[in-house]
Amino acid sequence: MTTTPDTASDAPNLPPDAPFRVGVIGAGTIAGAHLGAYRDTPGVQITAVADMNLERAQQVADEYGAARAYADPHQLLADPEVEGVSVCTWNDSHASWAIAAIEAGKHVLVEKPLARTVEEAEAIQRAAEGTDRLVQVGFVRRHAPNCQVLKSFIDAGDLGELYYAKASLIRRMGNPGGWFADKEIAGGGPLLDIGIHVLDLAWYLMGAPKAVAVSGSTVEKLGNRANITSMPRYTAADYDPTKNTVEDLASAMIRFENGASMLLDCSYSLHALEDSIAVSVYGDKGGAEVEPRLRLATEMHDAVVNIDPQIASPTFDFGLGFRNQVANFVAAAQGREESIAPLEHGVEITRILAAVYESAELGREVRLD
Ligand SMILES: NC(=O)c1ccc[n+]([C@@H]2O[C@H](COP(=O)([O-])OP(=O)(O)OC[C@H]3O[C@@H](n4cnc5c(N)ncnc54)[C@H](O)[C@@H]3O)[C@@H](O)[C@H]2O)c1
Repeated sequence: MTTTPDTASDAPNLPPDAPFRVGVIGAGTIAGAHLGAYRDTPGVQITAVADMNLERAQQVADEYGAARAYADPHQLLADPEVEGVSVCTWNDSHASWAIAAIEAGKHVLVEKPLARTVEEAEAIQRAAEGTDRLVQVGFVRRHAPNCQVLKSFIDAGDLGELYYAKASLIRRMGNPGGWFADKEIAGGGPLLDIGIHVLDLAWYLMGAPKAVAVSGSTVEKLGNRANITSMPRYTAADYDPTKNTVEDLASAMIRFENGASMLLDCSYSLHALEDSIAVSVYGDKGGAEVEPRLRLATEMHDAVVNIDPQIASPTFDFGLGFRNQVANFVAAAQGREESIAPLEHGVEITRILAAVYESAELGREVRLD
């Protein structure tokens, strides 16, 4: 795949009140969440959809009222009307489409993981350097109200200095197969697919400290548990029970420059009693769980007090998370807001994830400073 568009796009000469025109590359499952959110965002027009499966691109374009569908995303990127692009393809092309989009003069919202490797993530960074194009990373959980409400408590100093975090996302039969189970395409297993969500959520709430050391382990014992018939499973469109090259489980201890640390674990396959998610942060004035539901703990008048913020969804609100994410992307591209999930954060998260795999392979702690 080339990294330059077929035709360089000129800056669109649009009236000031023109809608922000977007295109989506990759028209599978998560593209629907992006497109639904764009459709619900005032001032946004969905212009084009591209997928190497043209029939899928056309069907999705029709569903969301996009004027054009392409089999080759380079054609979408050559469209001078398109200002912003969501990259919703498999992980192996996030970097190349993000780079091509930047080179075509587009703002880009790249799905997580930003890239499979640190080298790919740094290549995106080099492409963006010296341009005024926004690259935002699809860390959607940052945008959900449970995270944002907790962030406002943290920013006000209510938890004091955060020194410890725990992030866990356990699935018992969560290997979707298909490209998700192909290390070449996905870059990794549950760590890059689901562990990244909870790692990022905790790291963002901690204030995005620089990681200095990672001790990780990965395990391949149970495989994709294709033998299990007693429970339903989510499967990718190209599910093949005989194919799996990713880990079952990953765990890590991450140390940060400011002395804080985080424990992380995630699995596709594990003999756990139930699926679970748990993300919490602890400071010297208070602590909080953001998943499975937002709650805080502190001291008042020498008593331990739990605080229960009343919000519409105390756990991750998928629809609102995606709507807030694209609203932030569009506003940041237009210079009205700061992006809360900038490219540098995606690069740093990629470094931490790569260090977990490296540490697991070496069987010892890896330094990042
Ligand atoms: N933020 C979230 O909560 C979340 C949830 C699910 C998936 N994702 C991410 O979204 C991305 C897509 O996942 P999905 O579940 O939608 O996968 P999917 O397989 O349902 O859809 C991907 C689509 O991209 C197309 N595609 C793949 N490579 C392409 C290429 N090089 N050029 C053109 N089209 C290409 C495929 O034909 C397919 O239609 C992944 O990176 C995944 O990690 C994020």
